[in-house]
Amino acid sequence: MSDSESGDAQPLAQAEARIAACEDLDALKAVEREYLGKQGMVAQLLASIPEQPPAERPGVGKRANELKRGVQAAVDSHRDALAGARVDAERRGEGFDASLPPPRPQRGSLHPITQVTRELEDLFQSMGYQVLDGPEVETDYYNFEALNIHADHPARDSHDTFFCEGDGHLVMRTHTSPVQARALEKFEPPLRVVAPGKCFRQESVDASHDHTFHQMEGLVIDRDISVAHLVGAMKTLLRGIFDQDLEVRLRPGYFPFVEPGFELDARCPFCQTGCRVCKRTRWIELLPCGLVHPHVLRHGGLDPNEWGGFAFGLGLSRLVMLRHNIDDIRHLLGGDVRFLEQF
Ligand code: DAH
Repeated sequence: MSDSESGDAQPLAQAEARIAACEDLDALKAVEREYLGKQGMVAQLLASIPEQPPAERPGVGKRANELKRGVQAAVDSHRDALAGARVDAERRGEGFDASLPPPRPQRGSLHPITQVTRELEDLFQSMGYQVLDGPEVETDYYNFEALNIHADHPARDSHDTFFCEGDGHLVMRTHTSPVQARALEKFEPPLRVVAPGKCFRQESVDASHDHTFHQMEGLVIDRDISVAHLVGAMKTLLRGIFDQDLEVRLRPGYFPFVEPGFELDARCPFCQTGCRVCKRTRWIELLPCGLVHPHVLRHGGLDPNEWGGFAFGLGLSRLVMLRHNIDDIRHLLGGDVRFLEQF
């Protein structure tokens, strides 16, 4: 041992005796902290060096380091000894209850967005809609052009687009509406589709904006479609979501791919007199929608004199937040297991 050299064995010998006397890990930790902690004896010794006469300093430093190494070694070996003793005791049947249930395997659950998406898919399928999927990396044509949003259209500014590298014609889709344009090209009318999925916008992220969020697009094409059909479908949708009949109102809304366009508000399902969710207005803004613009129909190869339709863009992320009273959108895709375990 190095104490013969340092000539001052006492602190280490004392420490070793105290460590050996520890009967459990907590006691051991406390002694370890006394010596090796931020305010421990070793730290104090080292801190005292500048106050020592110069000739003494190397000796004090050396003793501090020896103490540190010695205490650490004694703590480590005693910790192993305690662990070994515990295993031995368990082997002898002490402290081990064979009747306890084994730890349960961890089970995952469906993400709240997946839950809502599947519920709504079921609802719409029961009404004869097809569920469609579309690419998340979309061409400029489908994301904008086919939806009557031309290159210099001011509506592009509000879309805060992520452009993909390359020739500039690929974007991360900013909404699910491009699936409308694809559906019009692909299928013969009459047509009823919904298309849930991820959308992306280059937004400054805060409690109510994330760069990635979910929408569900809906499109119905038929002859003689009117706003009454749209309102009827939206009421059915709201009943499916909130399990009750909610009064609705239409406000004018501008979206280049519908005419007329609306913001459809529903009576707040959470209160009678005004609450935090509806910001005391008794209305919640949920569903932008409208009658499909003739240009969009033409882009899809349909004659607007023969065919008409309505479309809507339900914000799934917002819906999930409303439903579970989640106050920050960043929780949704944050990947924190503690959040996800609640569903
Ligand atoms: N795509 C729009 C957006 O993300 C939402 C929207 C508005 C979709 C009106 C529609 C619609 O189908 O008719 O801002």
